[in-house]
Amino acid sequence: MIRTRLTSQYGLRAPFVSAGMGFLSLPPLAAAVSNAGGLGMLAPGPAPPPVLRQVIRATRQLTAQPFGVDFIIETTALGPLTVEEHIEVAVEEGVPVAVFFWNCPPDPWIRKLKDAGSKVWLQTSSVDGARKAVDAGIDAIVCQGSEAGGHNRGTTGLFTLVRAITEVVAVPVIAAGGIADGFGVAAALALGAEGVWVGTRLLASTEAHAHEEYKRRVVAAREGEIARTSIFGREWPDAPMRVIRNRVVAEWSGRDSRTPPPAEPPDFIGKTMIGGQEYPMPKFSAILPSPETTGDFEEMCLAAGESAALVHEIKPAARILEEMMSEAEQIISGRLAAMVLDTGAAGT
Ligand SMILES: Cc1cc2nc3c(=O)[nH]c(=O)nc-3n(C[C@H](O)[C@H](O)[C@H](O)COP(=O)(O)O)c2cc1C
Repeated sequence: MIRTRLTSQYGLRAPFVSAGMGFLSLPPLAAAVSNAGGLGMLAPGPAPPPVLRQVIRATRQLTAQPFGVDFIIETTALGPLTVEEHIEVAVEEGVPVAVFFWNCPPDPWIRKLKDAGSKVWLQTSSVDGARKAVDAGIDAIVCQGSEAGGHNRGTTGLFTLVRAITEVVAVPVIAAGGIADGFGVAAALALGAEGVWVGTRLLASTEAHAHEEYKRRVVAAREGEIARTSIFGREWPDAPMRVIRNRVVAEWSGRDSRTPPPAEPPDFIGKTMIGGQEYPMPKFSAILPSPETTGDFEEMCLAAGESAALVHEIKPAARILEEMMSEAEQIISGRLAAMVLDTGAAGT
């Protein structure tokens, strides 16, 4: 077993957190990770507060273990993705961990959550962002390297960023980006992280609420087939993302630093369901394909990180966690320890 401050402070059996992945991280995935000894994360996307309450309660039906809720702080074409009422729901429902992404939440929200006994984290890709968040009372930093899947405005790779952030903050740092096997876990811990935050590997899990064709493309993606682009932004414009290269990404390569303007009349690429309502997907929609989605996958936003190259099979989330953690243990206590001994022996 690998122990860090994350496992001891949060009562976990593994320093493993499932990444918040909008629309895809629903109760089955979060509960599977929490039941396997990690910390499962819910990310119900732009769900209104009553839906958030249902999602939290549904998770409690599936696990008695702690879990978290991921909130995005940004005003998009859909309005602000997180409002005061979401925080009130989290407080009333006693969510153990609230994680904020993109921007730091207002101070009163941090205080409200902490007064209610929740731990509050921030996912950031900058040293300055991490420092300011800790000054505002944030309990842990999720450090998002530039290789990470999904929305990502970071320009620094995880190796440098984890070191740079652990140099300036005293709270636990959790590494995010490119971690899809035990080698990645061992490397993140060696760099000073006290846990890993895993997205793309769990996107290809049985429980992720993603369309089977999307999962198949994650498994099929090779190194070099992940692009960084801002074209997908009809709902959240001009935000850089890491995605799997498909026809629309290739067509707009070199002209992809902004979301293209909407066509007149609007061009639709498929349809999906959001919050129980049918949603026609406009071209350049950022909505990720779920099992309810139909349409042209060559036009859709298939968010995934560089670590897709390391994903070879769709598996249950618990197996992914167990295999990654036991591989990390073997690497740390076997391969790396043997290297140190060998070096010693060579010198005698
Ligand atoms: C499909 C997908 C959706 C994502 N959606 C969110 C989100 O809603 N909120 C969030 O905080 N991060 C989101 N992210 C970013 C992750 O939190 C995390 O930074 C990333 O998955 C880590 O890198 P990895 O994909 O290589 O594991 C998403 C990532 C992916 C792959």
